[in-house]
Amino acid sequence: MTATQEATRGLVEIHDVHKSYGGHEVLRGIDLTIQPGEVVAVLGPSGSGKSTLLRTINHLEGIDRGSVTVDGQLIGYELRGGRLHELREREILRRRTQIGIVFQNFNLFPHLTALENVTEAPIATGALSKEDAHELALGLLARVGLAEKADQYPRQLSGGQQQRVAIARALALKPKVILFDEPTSALDPELVGEVLDVIRDLAQLGTTLVIVTHEIGFAREVADRVVFVDGGVIVEQGPPSQVLVAPEHPRTREFLAKVLG
Ligand SMILES: Nc1ncnc2c1ncn2[C@@H]1O[C@H](COP(=O)(O)OP(=O)(O)O)[C@@H](O)[C@H]1O
Ligand SMILES: [Mg+2]
Repeated sequence: MTATQEATRGLVEIHDVHKSYGGHEVLRGIDLTIQPGEVVAVLGPSGSGKSTLLRTINHLEGIDRGSVTVDGQLIGYELRGGRLHELREREILRRRTQIGIVFQNFNLFPHLTALENVTEAPIATGALSKEDAHELALGLLARVGLAEKADQYPRQLSGGQQQRVAIARALALKPKVILFDEPTSALDPELVGEVLDVIRDLAQLGTTLVIVTHEIGFAREVADRVVFVDGGVIVEQGPPSQVLVAPEHPRTREFLAKVLG
């Protein structure tokens, strides 16, 4: 890969994104540029639009206005005659492979083993042969500390282990960007650390990460930037040392006071 390609790998540009459900405008004009390799923590009260924002980035939700691009390529849409038109399902899926997502509730396939959960997408998309996908998955499971659990089913794994499988699964398509939606919120407190350790490793490897989290200490440690969302807009953003320590906006202060108890 050339230096120029490297420099544009994982650049996310979110421009004037609006999204309503019925009459309720959940995202009210989000502008956010995320640099390749940047780690952005998204904070905000429940219902502020954090999950919706993540879901518009990989086009699990369409948008009403604005655009989302990764390395300059529109996600979910193409520009024709000066307007955005939604892509066909096949092309949506193809572009979406650049963006991994990890959900709060893991969302593993219950009828597939840990290994099969990881090999499913690369095989289904034709990215890899069965043998290559198998080898890749074993490597990824080892990387998240689960080499011994390859043949276990999700129900046989703890929440922390399931979430680590979900991360390995997200990595299997070699995404440029990984989105995490409260990845530790469903876990027992003693299992949070093992998942954060895996995310911390990814942060150091230079993948662009967008992490919705209430783990303020973790955000402070790994994030290059903290974005505080409330009411579908970005209220405040900046380095963690500023936003988390000396927030400027009263809503940010109020939120942090609540979360930090
Ligand atoms: N599929 C949907 N249909 C209707 N309303 C939705 C849908 N998804 C989210 N909402 C509403 O949008 C708002 C923001 O939700 P969400 O993005 O999940 O917030 P957060 O992740 O910050 O808690 C909430 O009021 C929620 O009820
Ligand atoms: Mg949410």
